[in-house]
Amino acid sequence: MTTSDDIQLHRGLQGVYFDRTATTFIDGKEGVLEYRGYSIHDLATRSTFEETAYLLLYGNLPTKAQLEDFDARLKDARELPDQVLDVIHIVKDSHPMDVLRTAVSALASFDKDRADNSVEATYRKGIRLTSQFATIVMAHHRIRAGKDPIKPSKTLSHAANFLYMLDGKEPTAATADLMDKDFVLHADHGSNASAFTARVVAGTSADLHGAVTAGIAALSGPSHGGAAENVMQMAQEIGDPANAAQYVKDLLGARKRVMGFGHRVYKAEDPRARHLREGVLKLSEEKGEPKWYAILEAVVEAMKPYARRGIHVNVDFFAGVIYYLNGIPQDLFVPIFAVGRVPGWTVQVVEQYEHNILIRPLLVYTGEHNREYIPIADRG
Ligand code: ACO
Repeated sequence: MTTSDDIQLHRGLQGVYFDRTATTFIDGKEGVLEYRGYSIHDLATRSTFEETAYLLLYGNLPTKAQLEDFDARLKDARELPDQVLDVIHIVKDSHPMDVLRTAVSALASFDKDRADNSVEATYRKGIRLTSQFATIVMAHHRIRAGKDPIKPSKTLSHAANFLYMLDGKEPTAATADLMDKDFVLHADHGSNASAFTARVVAGTSADLHGAVTAGIAALSGPSHGGAAENVMQMAQEIGDPANAAQYVKDLLGARKRVMGFGHRVYKAEDPRARHLREGVLKLSEEKGEPKWYAILEAVVEAMKPYARRGIHVNVDFFAGVIYYLNGIPQDLFVPIFAVGRVPGWTVQVVEQYEHNILIRPLLVYTGEHNREYIPIADRG
């Protein structure tokens, strides 16, 4: 019998490689992130979400005609079935991540490719879901306030349409660009908790809707996607840059974590954070609220001693303030992350299907053996 002494445990599967991928490369020590071999910095500054989603799914940058076709397919998929809007009405008082999870699960019933797990059908579903996620989040936001959802635009970009569905106002080009950048930066990230969850589900040959629904659940926790919401709350509690050092000291003294810092893979600064930092700086000045950038930078300063231990800002640190300054309520921050992540989940599910294997690790048993079964009447 194998004893637990013979077994090397990898709690949290830390440092374990479980498969190969040709989609996203991460070097956590150097702070490098590439989608399909393209630097995240090039994509964040030169690409669009639509183009990046195409790149992730199909492996190459599209030609003009390919991008136009892809964009048209995204735009065609923006409206939700009435039955799914009814579901959103029923669960409208839940957290937006719970509503998103429930609505995406319900969408499976109305997808014509539902039972088809071929690569082509999975891409078709992934493209539809990319658009539908955005509509669900904003439709729920309106419905819970007793308002009618704004019909998605047939012409605006994915990012601009997302902001448009918040209140029916077309965003400025600069605001839409920043949202677009945010979606590009969130589009995929290797074997993070939600993508791994989606792969586990796909590993059983379940369908994309099931895999993505489970991915939403994994993303909702504060150790993964939930941190942006907590960072904004922290910035509000700090209230003034002068309070940041003491706030951080108190938090760490109580052995709590500073949200938006630390990462399982990055031991250098998360390369995505740079672009959002620039966004916060610009936007806080534009909106006449420079204190938010100053508060965040004061927290970074207070956390400097932790950089030696590999604890740096992650993608969530600056994202929350950007959403806040755009008038987006805090409980929509994690759903925004999910909206950007659909292409990544889709391509990873496809990779899983292409050479599928059931993902089934082992646990070391630490309980008792050979216990005597005592009938209920004789138990004390
Ligand atoms: N603040 C203070 N200390 C921290 C932080 C933090 N944010 N993150 C890690 N540490 C410390 C831990 O206390 C621990 O110290 P110890 O060894 O003295 O006990 C050490 O660093 C290692 O921490 P682990 O939890 O073992 O590292 P892990 O890789 O499991 O954690 C995680 C990664 C969950 C992201 C963690 O850094 C964290 O909780 N951060 C705050 C939440 C957050 O920002 N989440 C978003 C992640 S990015 C994303 O998903 C998009």
